[in-house]
Amino acid sequence: MAKNMRKINIFLIAGARPNYVKVAALWKAYLQFRKKRPKSRVTCRLINTGQHYDYMMSKAFFKDLDLPAPYVDLGVGSDSHASQTAKIMSRFEKLLVKKRPDLVIVVGDVNSTMACTLVASKMEIPVAHVEAGLRSFDRTMPEEINRLVTDALADYLFTTSKDADLNLLREGVSKNKIHFVGNVMVDTLLTHLPKSKKSGIKKELGLNGSYAVLTLHRPSNVDRDSDFRRIADALERIQKHIPIVFPVHPRTAARLRSGSLNGHLGSLKNLKMVPPVGYLDFIHLLKDAKLVLTDSGGIQEETTVLGVPCLTLRANTERPVTMAQGTNILAGMGPRVADYALRILEGKIKRKKKVPPRWDGKTAPRNFQVLSKKLGF
Ligand code: UD1
Ligand code: UDP
Repeated sequence: MAKNMRKINIFLIAGARPNYVKVAALWKAYLQFRKKRPKSRVTCRLINTGQHYDYMMSKAFFKDLDLPAPYVDLGVGSDSHASQTAKIMSRFEKLLVKKRPDLVIVVGDVNSTMACTLVASKMEIPVAHVEAGLRSFDRTMPEEINRLVTDALADYLFTTSKDADLNLLREGVSKNKIHFVGNVMVDTLLTHLPKSKKSGIKKELGLNGSYAVLTLHRPSNVDRDSDFRRIADALERIQKHIPIVFPVHPRTAARLRSGSLNGHLGSLKNLKMVPPVGYLDFIHLLKDAKLVLTDSGGIQEETTVLGVPCLTLRANTERPVTMAQGTNILAGMGPRVADYALRILEGKIKRKKKVPPRWDGKTAPRNFQVLSKKLGF
């Protein structure tokens, strides 16, 4: 047995679609770490909370991203914020009482991130937050609450950009807890781009020329018909100039079923509404898109790395580096969206492609380096 090597058990938490993309990089880095350091006594176990559960929102990602079956699936499913968070907490607590890992790694800003952090912290189990410090400064966003709580409690804060470091310092987080390592989403993107070339999604969707990609799932955009209608009006204009592929998130699909806009969107000839697509198909679509319209966090980052113009359909972003250095434009949710889109299609807005520092595909190994030093494994 190697001298001074501690036996360390890590729980790596995922629960929703963007989490799988992030933990895939960490899982790969863990396997590489074990290979390079066979004497290390670190063990990592993947825990799925089950916040997302449709095949195309969950299992499909395990397959595309080479993730192992989870060690435990908490199977929480959908509910109100409080009930979902409470379910994750009570089920995760039972697991921690039985298994008591030495470290819990959480990623992103979903309810699962915050719930697992709260439980681990109260049990005095250290927490590492990957993608710490992002702030939209908009507390009407449920994710902003999740970010604030998670970062206030986490012991290791791994950031994707220097603005995140500054946000944390301003909130009084001690400098030695903050580690600017880069973006694990980019690791996953760069790993899987070559494989994604084999995707047959464009043929399947009948795309043989230029096209735009659209995703929408923020409650502030889709939960009320009046908000959604303003976006739909902009889409009506844009689709007259370019076909738009719209993989519809289940939240959005549910709102469309219960609201009054399904007919309007369904009648737009050049708007192709399809179920969510798998990761390899999706990044294949993104890479060759003329334009991306989205309210997703991760897609703002992926388009920046791919150099594809992105219009973010929101009033703010917690990822300002994608605007300052990448291809992202904050377009709001009204007629300006179509104005921007048409100007991009006419070649009147050109953004230089610049990839933010440390978005180099080597972030997750940096996470493991920091943790191995700090925890001694
Ligand atoms: C969640 C995250 C959001 C993240 C998004 C990524 C929170 C508070 N929100 O939003 O930050 O950007 O995931 O996609 O954690 N549903 C299904 N099947 C599923 C999952 C959801 O039908 O597999 C439907 C249900 O009607 C559910 C609704 O979508 O009520 C919302 O799901 P939920 O996980 O609560 O929030 P998201 O909008 O997915
Ligand atoms: N994504 C996907 N299929 C889709 C839509 C998105 O594979 O139909 C991927 C996308 O490439 C990114 C992640 O899902 O890696 C983003 O997830 P989402 O937009 O749901 O969450 P957010 O990033 O906003 O938290």
